[in-house]
Amino acid sequence: MSDEQCKECKGCNGKKPARWREDFPVEWENDNYITRREMVKFLGLGSLLIAGANFVVAGVPHLAKAAQYPEQSVGLASQIPVGGSMLFSYPTEQDPCILVHDKAGDLVAYSQVCTHLSCAVIHNPKENALFCPCHNGYFTVEEGRPYAGPPTRPLPRIKLVQRGDEIFAVGVEV
Ligand code: FES
Repeated sequence: MSDEQCKECKGCNGKKPARWREDFPVEWENDNYITRREMVKFLGLGSLLIAGANFVVAGVPHLAKAAQYPEQSVGLASQIPVGGSMLFSYPTEQDPCILVHDKAGDLVAYSQVCTHLSCAVIHNPKENALFCPCHNGYFTVEEGRPYAGPPTRPLPRIKLVQRGDEIFAVGVEV
């Protein structure tokens, strides 16, 4: 402690330490230790906070993936010729989707919302692609993967199940 004594009133006759000394009770020589300790505490708490935030951010997509989707009849496979396509909505009426009967005979479905700026993609059977006319974006029919134009993310895939001739949408893979 310093020799600085109270000079504010006559009550203690200068026996108490000065008022400012109560607010800053650390000697100048010891100040480095306090600063280091506080820095370590700050870094430790900061790291915990960042780790917690990462955990929350990393967990949110998993929670979204775990979302339950309804099973919904989409149509009859016999009504879609090979190389043809049809539109439907899933999981809600506000989610347009496109189902393609590709040349290999497989049925694949995707969200119709382009991953660039949300225009509607359409099937282009000549190029065997899903095409976005807004900025000439192209996606593969087999995987919904972008391969030309500005889109960089694949189209969300609609999981399908076929029972007999009837096709059901049962989920969305983002
Ligand atoms: S919105 Fe589809 S390419 Fe831009």
